[in-house]
Amino acid sequence: VPLQPLNTFHIVAKAHSLVRIREESDLLALLADPEWAAQPKFVLGGGSNIVLTGDVKPLVLKVEIPGRRLLQETARHFILEAGAGENWHDFVAWTLQQGYPGLENMAMIPGTVGASPVQNVGAYGVELQDRFESLDAMDLETGQVFTLNAAQCAFGYRDSVFKHASSVASDAPHQALGLKGRALILRVRFALPKVWKPVLGYADLEKKMAEQQCPNPTAQQIFDWVCAIRRAKLPDPAVIGNAGSFFKNPTVSPEQCADIIARDPKVVHYLLADGAVKLAAGWLIDSCGWRGKSVGQAGVYEKQALVLVNRGAGSNGLGATGGEVMTLAKAIQTSVYERFGILLEPEPVVL
Ligand code: EPU
Repeated sequence: VPLQPLNTFHIVAKAHSLVRIREESDLLALLADPEWAAQPKFVLGGGSNIVLTGDVKPLVLKVEIPGRRLLQETARHFILEAGAGENWHDFVAWTLQQGYPGLENMAMIPGTVGASPVQNVGAYGVELQDRFESLDAMDLETGQVFTLNAAQCAFGYRDSVFKHASSVASDAPHQALGLKGRALILRVRFALPKVWKPVLGYADLEKKMAEQQCPNPTAQQIFDWVCAIRRAKLPDPAVIGNAGSFFKNPTVSPEQCADIIARDPKVVHYLLADGAVKLAAGWLIDSCGWRGKSVGQAGVYEKQALVLVNRGAGSNGLGATGGEVMTLAKAIQTSVYERFGILLEPEPVVL
């Protein structure tokens, strides 16, 4: 099965086998197969956070579970539920149309609803964990469906329990330390506040607010601004293959940051609540001169050095290989490390 149309980097690769999952019974039918247990699996959503470095041998489970609805109202929240296969941006737009604001800062993030908790997606001052209520997932070993709340998901910056392998065998998936490769997210529930307040702290949004002379924007206006900011800064995966930010923004100690400021006064940094300092990886990469550079057909995006792009391809040509993308990524890591002493951590899953 060709995977090029199923990953937003548009890297050419094949899956040895792929099954589309539209409902729980599709999974239960697979579980009944005696060869299921021994078969390695890979859960695929919108393919917007993966780098394929070769053909994929594990069985690919392509999640296409549909559905979106208002599930219930509590005193302070609307609880919305969406199937894991729903397109994230379409779901965000739909919640606003229905009159449930709260997800607008996360407009236009590529990918599916089911993938959103895996890396705790976030943008412009709001992270998924700020709006998350719970999710249902299926244990791929037993077929048991279980529910996780936010604490059980162990959300961190671009991180969750779904990104970590379990180090202990456990019969109770919700007690395992990590669920990587073990669970398939079926549905996600969001708690959207009835008393909505805009989240506007992010510099790019403050700028829009000043430009438009609009001190009290509606959720729809913020949605439109976020879409405009992203269109101006980030490549549209439908046109130029990419997987969003390629590295996480690193966190350093105040001492380490002071050291860097002494040498590079312009370093873009933000103070965190716990006293640590987050640095803009895009700035670090940019100041090492990488913006616009390439290795083969893999390149550093001209308008945002944190995003690696596929310069070939479009929707059908050959374009960059996963190997070229990873060679470029390693060269960037080396030069940022040599100059700043910081090892950048890749954000997408490398297969
Ligand atoms: N910068 C440069 N040069 C560059 C790129 C950035 O100097 O080439 C500077 C910018 O001028 C800015 C700072 O770095 O002062 C931060 O840049 P930006 O506002 O574009 O945000 P980011 O930190 O690079 C993060 C997320 C994005 C998210 C935006 C907005 C991560 C890894 N990335 O990017 O998320 O959309 O903030 O909230 O946290 C993603 O995860 O795939 C993603 C796109």
